[in-house]
Amino acid sequence: MPSRSTTRTSGSPRSGSGRRGLGRALVALLVVGAVGAATPAHAAPENPLRHIVPAPVSATPRPGVTFTLGADTRIHTHPGSAGAEQVGEFLAGVLRPSTGYRLPVVPGASARGITLLLAGADPRVGDEGYQLDVTRLGVVIRARTAAGLFAGVQTFRQILPAKVEAKTKQRGPFTAPGGRVLDYPRYAHRGAMLDVARHFFSPDEVKRYIDQIALYKVNRLHLHLTDDQGWRLEIKSWPNLTAHGGSTEVGGGPGGFYTQEQYRDLVAYAAARHITVIPEIDMPGHTNAALSSYPELNCDGVAPPLYTGIEVGFSSLCIDKDITYRFVDDVLRELAALTPGKYVHIGGDEAHATTDPDYDLFMDRVLPLVAAHGKVATGWHEFVKAGPPASAVPQFWGTRTTAPDVVEAAARGNQVVLSPANKAYLDMKYDASTPLGLSWAGYTDVQDAYDWNPGAYVEGLPAEAVRGVEAPLWSETLTNSADVEFMAFPRLPAIAELGWSPWSTHDWEGFKVRLAAQGERWDVQGVNYHRHPQVPWRG
Ligand code: ACM
Repeated sequence: MPSRSTTRTSGSPRSGSGRRGLGRALVALLVVGAVGAATPAHAAPENPLRHIVPAPVSATPRPGVTFTLGADTRIHTHPGSAGAEQVGEFLAGVLRPSTGYRLPVVPGASARGITLLLAGADPRVGDEGYQLDVTRLGVVIRARTAAGLFAGVQTFRQILPAKVEAKTKQRGPFTAPGGRVLDYPRYAHRGAMLDVARHFFSPDEVKRYIDQIALYKVNRLHLHLTDDQGWRLEIKSWPNLTAHGGSTEVGGGPGGFYTQEQYRDLVAYAAARHITVIPEIDMPGHTNAALSSYPELNCDGVAPPLYTGIEVGFSSLCIDKDITYRFVDDVLRELAALTPGKYVHIGGDEAHATTDPDYDLFMDRVLPLVAAHGKVATGWHEFVKAGPPASAVPQFWGTRTTAPDVVEAAARGNQVVLSPANKAYLDMKYDASTPLGLSWAGYTDVQDAYDWNPGAYVEGLPAEAVRGVEAPLWSETLTNSADVEFMAFPRLPAIAELGWSPWSTHDWEGFKVRLAAQGERWDVQGVNYHRHPQVPWRG
């Protein structure tokens, strides 16, 4: 399967903005925005308002009403808000190539064209939700934050014809159905994880994935940056981590790494799509690449060879040596400086080459280092045995629904992210015939990925202790974007929906029909999705 190169450009230079556009039209729109709460959808079967993924809180059609983009359509953004303007430019960046329209982004508000407003939304939208109104004259998205406007724009894309996603000019019309959507997320953490350590993915490949997950309102990208097979982030104080430790990957390919400049650019690219990067440095296990790069990190002072296989659990940083903690401190210092987000992931999984007392000693020294660099720790759920502070976020990756350690941690105040390996691991094969992926957690078809309730999944874990969900994609068998897409689509949208949509909307029969509509978009975008037989794909 060929790899394709990517990138949708957005974020052209900001034009000047001010309060001057905030006139009578805006006031009128605010008033309109305040009336009438939406009710659940009862749209005709073909109404694109029925095809939104993740399912919105509510979508109410305006029968007989449509809005059509035109050559003179403008995108008005809330005066004085750089964030709203950036979202407007993002939308223009999606729509300009396919429509061929200029779609200027201008400060202001109008009942005509497209307006993105940071005012007048139903208060239920909160920090990430939005209200979308489509009338004959125009489209108005209202939110309290730029993140909410961005989420609303993803919905607007999905109610336009799939051809708007094309990179080349298409024949119109580009028509959206009239209606109102009121929408906000179930969980704060709606994550995807990409393992760039087992196989390296170029910055363009990561950006391509960022664009794909943003369409489904994913707001966290966890990058698994280090493992036995490779160290992928430049650390200036320990340069051999990448010079040597980044020089290969599973199967013996050339590997690679991100310079700090490239990494900052990735973080900014994600941020422009309202996605926060959570970087992971996995330790004390999964560290062969580091151990191979610096002999002094090994208890016996001997660097092991680089590793290109796929076994786990054989490596450990040397728990007794002070240099181990100087190393971790340096890495966390440089990482924290590259990380605008609050969280740093310290791994902690499958430390089978570290004794339990050593694991505790290690975490007792490392957890305070995370805090010293101004960050909050997240880690694979094993790290709850070290009793991390209540702010720390364990990521559950078990294959059972029992996890007493995690439930105890929740009782101490820790919020949990759920990534059950037999549901949310996108690298598990769909079935025995899947050419890529692994199967140690079993096969995971599309319905398996979708049909579980994060709020009532781990026995004894209270619904309030669930911070969200995350879909990890491990890359032992994946080498390029086509491979990533084959495993992620259509299952990533299933996990994204579990993270966003209220449980009251959960319905496999409806979801698979909505997925089929998304398939038309992936066809246009050139996404190498798996046409799994559970989904009634169109065409
Ligand atoms: C993991 O799958 N080892 C977190």
